[in-house]
Amino acid sequence: MGAAIVIKNLEWKYEHTTQFALRGVNLEVEENTFLGIVGANEQGKTTLINCICGLIPHSFNGVYRGSVEIYGKPVLKMSGLEIATQVGLVFADPEAQFTAMTVEEELVFGLENTGYDLGKIKERLDWAVDVTMIGDLLDKSPYDISGGQKQRMAIACVLAMNPPIIIMDEPTSMIDPLGKQFIFDILRKLKDAGDRTIIVVEHNIEQLAPLADQLLLMQGGQISKVAPPARFFDDLPMVVGSGAYPPEVTSFAYWLKQSGRLPQEHILPYRFEDGVDVARAAFNSARKTDEPIP
Ligand SMILES: Nc1ncnc2c1ncn2[C@@H]1O[C@H](COP(=O)(O)OP(=O)(O)OP(=O)(O)O)[C@@H](O)[C@H]1O
Ligand SMILES: [Mg+2]
Repeated sequence: MGAAIVIKNLEWKYEHTTQFALRGVNLEVEENTFLGIVGANEQGKTTLINCICGLIPHSFNGVYRGSVEIYGKPVLKMSGLEIATQVGLVFADPEAQFTAMTVEEELVFGLENTGYDLGKIKERLDWAVDVTMIGDLLDKSPYDISGGQKQRMAIACVLAMNPPIIIMDEPTSMIDPLGKQFIFDILRKLKDAGDRTIIVVEHNIEQLAPLADQLLLMQGGQISKVAPPARFFDDLPMVVGSGAYPPEVTSFAYWLKQSGRLPQEHILPYRFEDGVDVARAAFNSARKTDEPIP
């Protein structure tokens, strides 16, 4: 497996601003892995993904230094169409992307320009509709469905184009809790399929961490940490200090450690289920020392 994305010494400053929004960014994203991006507001998460999908610098003015390569090719040298065949983007506000009268037309719209034969288009559509669970919405207007359904449709549009890299910028931020769960279910299916590179910016680390192969923390326009979820929370005060919210089970285990109830060597968990192991370890530790069960 090679790298899908390689970023070297990337710096970006928007026109009419005084500070660089990205500074000294270096990153490699392995092909067919899932990268979760977290961080407080205004830290450069959207700017980073806009650089990966070429919107920066193709659609923005500013100062650009360094390079972003997709499958070995600099985005600077790729046309918008070329990038679009490689990278599919889903934004927080799906409505910004709509152009058609029905959900089905919206799905077909992007595919019509690809030159694929009809059989191929049908196959792609059926798959995208199935993964995103929007089969009952096809004849509805994109404007008459709920926020969560709109977002699922927007994801289906991207999946129908079948790009090897899919990027989502806070895909759940504007929808209700049930709608959010549907999006995480879709992400789980895509992750389990294992045949694309997925990058998701998301504030809900609790739901993101179990999906991610790597978590990336943006802070002040720089990458302050990239690690697999099992190691990402090692320095929990640093993560909390950055303004990112760790999973509750992680905070709980950290508290157990700090208060001497959990052996120091215990790695902080990030999945809810692993809370059981933490509780058991704390229980055993208390039993050994004859202290009351915490
Ligand atoms: N179009 C723009 N023109 C000028 N400055 C911008 C522009 N977009 C973003 N910025 C600035 O760049 C910095 C990084 O912003 P960015 O939107 O990438 O952060 P973010 O981490 O995605 O934040 P959020 O969580 O609020 O979406 C901020 O200081 C922001 O004000
Ligand atoms: Mg953003």
